Formats: sequence, C-alpha cells, structure tokens
Amino acid sequence: MNITVIGTGYVGLVSGVCFAELGNRVICVDKDPEKIDVLNSGGIPIYEPGLKELAVANRKSGKLSFTTDLPGAVRRSDIIILAVGTPPLANGEANLAYIDQAALEIAEAMNGYKIVAVKSTVPVGTNERIAALIRSRTSLRFDSISLPEFLREGSAIQDTMHPDRIIIGADCSSAAETMALLHKPLTEQIVITDIRSAEMIKYASNAFLATKISFINEIANICEKVGADVTQVAEGMGYDKRIGPSFLKAGIGYGGSCFPKDTHALIQIAGHVDYEFKLLRSVVEVNQDQRFNVIRKLESIFDGEMRGKTVAVWGLAFKPNTDDVRDSPALEIIRHLVDNGVKVKAYDPIAMANFQTLFGKEGVAWCDNAMDTAQGADALCLLTEWDEFSGMDLGQLQTVMKRPILIDGRNVFKEENLLGTDFVYYSVGRPSLNQGVKQQMPVLQF
Ligand code: UDX
Repeated sequence: MNITVIGTGYVGLVSGVCFAELGNRVICVDKDPEKIDVLNSGGIPIYEPGLKELAVANRKSGKLSFTTDLPGAVRRSDIIILAVGTPPLANGEANLAYIDQAALEIAEAMNGYKIVAVKSTVPVGTNERIAALIRSRTSLRFDSISLPEFLREGSAIQDTMHPDRIIIGADCSSAAETMALLHKPLTEQIVITDIRSAEMIKYASNAFLATKISFINEIANICEKVGADVTQVAEGMGYDKRIGPSFLKAGIGYGGSCFPKDTHALIQIAGHVDYEFKLLRSVVEVNQDQRFNVIRKLESIFDGEMRGKTVAVWGLAFKPNTDDVRDSPALEIIRHLVDNGVKVKAYDPIAMANFQTLFGKEGVAWCDNAMDTAQGADALCLLTEWDEFSGMDLGQLQTVMKRPILIDGRNVFKEENLLGTDFVYYSVGRPSLNQGVKQQMPVLQF
C-alpha cells in the first residue's frame, strides 16, 4: 500500500518505518526541515533501540522516504496517517492545533479517494472534527479511521511489530477492511469498533495502566508501614489472571509523554460532559506525591538538615532505554533538592542532554559516569533503572562515597547486593531490606 505518515515524532517515525518494513511504500512527512535532513542523511532525531538500523535499511531499499512536501506525499498515497503531536495545554486539554492544520493541508492536497487515519492521541470526537475540516475544503471522497497507538518508548519496534492488539475505529466497513489488511501481518487480534470507542480505548487503556501504577505505589507505602514487601505482594497478586503481573512495579511514579498527558486529558474530557472522574484524579495525585517519597526519605536520614549535603542522582530519563525526560520524576526531585541548598551531582547514560535542555545546566554538577557521580556524596538516589546501575558493585561504590546511603527509587537492588556492605539502604515498599536503618515496625492493632 502507499502510505503517508504525517509527523516524525516517536509514533510517526516508528509506525512509518515499521509499515515500510512490512513491504509498504511509506513517505514520512514533517514540517521541520532539520529533522527531515537528519533522517535523509541516515540519522534519527530520537533515541530508540533498533529504529535507526530499520530506517536506514528501508530507505536504502526505496520503501521509505522523508520529506517536508506534504501535498506531494498526500497525492502519491492512498492512506494518510496523522501522527502529529497533541501536547497538553495549560489546562490539561490536548492541543489540537497541529492536527487541525495537517487536516486542512491534506484536504487541499487531495487528488482522489483517501483513508485518513488518526494515530495521534486525540479526545473523543476529534476524528469527526477532522472529517468536518477536510469536508469544508474538498468535495472528494475520504474515510476517517481512528487508529490508536500503544507503543512504549524503549521497546517501540517490538511493540509495533508484535502488538497485543490493533484497534481500528471506523464508520465505513470497506475502509476498516483495508486497514485490517494493512495490519494483518502484525497480529490476528484486530478489533474493529466505532470511531468514538476507538478514541476512548486509548485514553481508557493509559488511564488504567496509570491506575495500576498508583495503586501498587500506595500498596508499597502501606507495606513500608506494616512491614510487608511490595515485590512479593505484587508477585502474589499478579498470578491472578484477572489482575496480571505487569505494571505492578512500585517506584517513584510514572512519567513520560503519555500517562501524565493522557490522564489529565481524560479528566478534562469527562469534565466537559459534567462527569467528575474521581478515581483518576486520585491516581494523578498519588503519582505526583510518590516522587517526594525520595525526598522524605532523605530528610528523615539527615534529620531535616539537607542544606549543604551532596546528593548523587543516578538516572534522569522517565524510564530506561529512552532519552526522553518529559515529566520525568527526576525533574521535580532534583529541582526540590537544588532549591533547598543540596549540592546535586547527576548522571544518565543517554538522557543527560535532554534533561539539561528542560532543567537548565545551572545548579547541578553533571557527571560522566555512575562512579564519579557517587564520589564524595552524602547519599545516592537511583531514579531510573538503567541496566548499568543494577550491575554496580555496591562494595566498591561505598568506598567512594562520603556516607554509604542509597535510596533506590526503583527497587533495583536485592538483598544479596547489600550483603557485606555498610549501606544504609532504602527502597520502595520493602522495609525488610532497609539495611542500616533503625526501624521498628509498629505492633499491629486489630
Ligand atoms: C505508555 C504506554 O505503556 C503505551 O502503551 C502508550 O502508547 C504510551 O504510554 P511509555 O510512556 O513509553 O508508554 O512507557 P511505559 O513503559 O508504559 O512506562 C510509563 C511510566 O510508568 C514510566 O515512568 C515507568 O517508569 C512507569 N512504570 C511502569 C512504573 O512505575 N511501574 C510499572 O510497573 C510500569
């Protein structure tokens, strides 16, 4: 099939590359000439394992091309996939300006029947709005499709090539069939729904996953007080097929470009139809507070005397295997420390430059590797579970630190890593591992 993908962000680029890999002819369009230049010279503007190799190979074979020429691409394609950004506005609603603009440009470039599919995460009703915009500029026939995307950063290729399911929201059965055919090589699990339901599935899925994370984080907070271990609790829960084992890792809360944005947007969507999504409001609140657990633990260790202390931070990305720092808990944690007179040393294997762009370069000592970061520190906080951190020798680590204090915000280390060390160790919801900390579990009252 001949496909145009508009927008070369995470979703657009990965989808475009994977559709080409499946044997389609794909044109990826972006307004940003610099991005297109990078892509045309064999580079990739984002960090995503495996993406570059796949992009280069498919470009070489002529199945994939990159351009700023939207009208030219639309004219040569039967399927147009919109994957432009819908960043949050100040009030949490999705900003649809880019998608509206692209819809108008598609309409003006159309030279015959097209399928216009929306992959960007958009509020319920947006596909109808886009259809109306296109209709206002052309009398040519087209069909709208809602095609929500579920890929995760860091495993985007795997998620796209082996999805759990494909959702196709359509009001025309032949357009739905064409889209099903396009996705058939990826999975048997293709669900065809009406357009509004498909739009809702994306928000509901992300909100549900965010709920699982906030739920297990609150369970972890209770575990800390009652002397249970959240990892054992999560394992025990996860064997129940109705619950499932995934997204039950306690930590410092979710970040990234999707969960924070989509949970806020769904609260707004509900608000517009006079429904208060109380549960999701709490999920967001719990998530916001969870990152401050790291700070609270530091404060209790230092008896509230944080000023002048040196705190090392390992990990700045919102999760491993990505350079994305959008809404990363590290942003707020480090801001709080710096504002309270703490000397922060920080390191991330990949995301340092992006972090500095969002946070600013001032106020933090940026380090080249994990060991240098810990050198002379009064405490170390692990905020992203990169593999290179879990492999660190804690015995060696404690020799370079001023005080061997480790706050493990991602439950990376196990009991055996701590054996023989003097680390004062705190993790999330695992009080039995709190080594070197005088902690008395209360006698539980019934
Ligand atoms: C998410 C959805 O998973 C994906 O389907 C959607 O398309 C986009 O949003 P992504 O943001 O890339 O993907 O990352 P994900 O792996 O889902 O993690 C999101 C956040 O939740 C991270 O900050 C991660 O650290 C956190 N998380 C995840 C937990 O704290 N605990 C978990 O058990 C799982």
